Amino acid sequence: MRAHYRRKYQLSENPKDTNHLRSVGGKVSLPLELLKMINPETKNKDDSFNLLSAFQGLGFGTVMLTGRNYFMCVRAQGTCGSTNLLCGVMLQRAFCMTAAETVAKSERSKGVRKRGVDGRVRRFEEIPHTGRSGWINLLKFWREGRFGQIHKHMERTFSALGPIYREHVATQSSVNIFLPSDIGELFRSEGLYPERMTVQPWVTHREIRHHSKGVFLKNGEEWRADRLLLNKEVMMNVAVQRFLPHLDEVARDFCRMLQARVEKEGRVVEGKQSLTIEPSSDLFRFGLEAICHVLYGERMGLFSSSPSMESQKFIWALKQMLATTNPLLYLPHRLLLRVGAPLWVQHASAWDYIFSHADVRIQRGYQRQSSSRGRRSEAGAAGDRHTGVLGQLLEKGQLSMDLIKANMTELMVGGVDTTAVPLQFALFELARNPEVQEKVRQQVIESWAQAAGDLQKALQGVPLLKGTVKETLRLYPVAITVQRRPVKDVVLQNYHVPAGTMVQVCLYPLGRSAEVFDDPERFDPERWCSIREGGQRPELGFRFMAFGLGARQCVGRRIAENQMQLLLMRVLLSFHLSVQSSEDVKTTFAFLLQPETPPRITFSRI
Ligand code: HEM
Repeated sequence: MRAHYRRKYQLSENPKDTNHLRSVGGKVSLPLELLKMINPETKNKDDSFNLLSAFQGLGFGTVMLTGRNYFMCVRAQGTCGSTNLLCGVMLQRAFCMTAAETVAKSERSKGVRKRGVDGRVRRFEEIPHTGRSGWINLLKFWREGRFGQIHKHMERTFSALGPIYREHVATQSSVNIFLPSDIGELFRSEGLYPERMTVQPWVTHREIRHHSKGVFLKNGEEWRADRLLLNKEVMMNVAVQRFLPHLDEVARDFCRMLQARVEKEGRVVEGKQSLTIEPSSDLFRFGLEAICHVLYGERMGLFSSSPSMESQKFIWALKQMLATTNPLLYLPHRLLLRVGAPLWVQHASAWDYIFSHADVRIQRGYQRQSSSRGRRSEAGAAGDRHTGVLGQLLEKGQLSMDLIKANMTELMVGGVDTTAVPLQFALFELARNPEVQEKVRQQVIESWAQAAGDLQKALQGVPLLKGTVKETLRLYPVAITVQRRPVKDVVLQNYHVPAGTMVQVCLYPLGRSAEVFDDPERFDPERWCSIREGGQRPELGFRFMAFGLGARQCVGRRIAENQMQLLLMRVLLSFHLSVQSSEDVKTTFAFLLQPETPPRITFSRI
């Protein structure tokens, strides 16, 4: 059928012709029959029509024009059922493309979309989309195992439909974008109380258990009030100075533990004592140990030879909660709750464990605080014991106990996997890029020596280490999207997007786009340095989005960045990293982007 249309309308088989078409602005005279299908209001054959932008606007792309060997299914708007153009059914005004996923590797979408036929801003309904029926899409997502590969699905869909598309899966609808110009436009319209997509199963859990919500789940004034208080304890410079030594203490202990293992279990390879392991579970323990130390001023003893069962269970509960969140986002979880479906039960019991674990820590912190207050008033001196973020919040007394509990639990949940997973990727990328590793190490050695124990100074002197963290999150964004509902109408890619629409910035396609980054597959921490060798200043605006942006950006950002940098710093000072295979690590999405199989790294004593 495709061949039939190609012959009938003399659509070129040759990719070069598409370029020619672009160069003449896509102006061609189409047969009335086809024109009417594309635009039913067309009156006569000579209505000049911009073929390229028409097809792009309709989500048809250049594929059919270039004659590449892809199959695309173009369906009548609103049906998405059994009929399509190529099967001979009339098209209505707009089209939806349901087979973006079947496009193997299409031409990368190019830059900003041209203006519409008459130079107007296009209507929202004209944004290319992946199928109108959320339920049919859900079925397809399910059948094709797309939930675990949603980041790749986004990348493929941009390739096929261009730099903006709509997606409707079950009850979730969004407009998806990835280009920095659109990101800028979106974030300029986020308003005073930025809103993200709500993680509804989490909200339901809070409601049925009568727990308060923390900043992650709140919106509006309530969110802002909590958030301003939390910022003081975790985002501001004084707070960073407070927790930096505690993060470093945990990073140092992690390296000591690893050194002991290398000595004990390793063997000599090329004159160096070496050990090859999957560091993933050690990094999870590091993540939990570090966040608990910062939040509660408490060490968990996770690097001891017999770490407590409750902490191991907490890590397991976190994994369970995250893994069950993803499917629940798309299913009627209230119904699952009512019928006691195992998926919901697993999700809720994981949360229950997380809450009870946090509760124990908070109770302990509270008791410590009260007893130290008693001692202080007896001694008449200020206590200098590290009581963590909890201690600060209790001391100031601006948040109710319920809100402290809600926010501390969220910080703890947000603070383990989010750092443990990127650290795996960072170690892997440094290990498979020995030259980069050596360059970063040299900077670390110099800065460490010059700082003479001043941690902040040591970190300021290692832009390549900061670049390493950014580069890791560019290629492996642990949160694969950042979402906003703009508070006023915006124009994205020349389409009108009304206020209140859920717009997702897709970080995986952004990080790997050749339009946005030179040589995107290359692990190059230097690309983030403000001035590169040779004096060029790179274009960096709206390109690093891993922590979100603006007032609602990740509240744990300063903890996470410093925690990862300190760990990498300590590791690079003690070990050479290498890998047996430098093949790419396959990734999977289970609410967070993770390695399908944790990478194995060889640690060799320096
Ligand atoms: C590499 C590590 C991390 C990454 C990539 C990351 C990423 C993100 C992103 C993308 C958001 C949404 C931001 C937005 O909407 O603009 C977010 C929010 C949040 N993150 Fe993180 N995060 C990380 C580590 C952490 C840590 C260590 C904590 C806790 C200590 C944490 C706690 C939170 C919380 C509570 C929010 C909600 C903030 C709000 O809505 O006001 N995150 N994070």
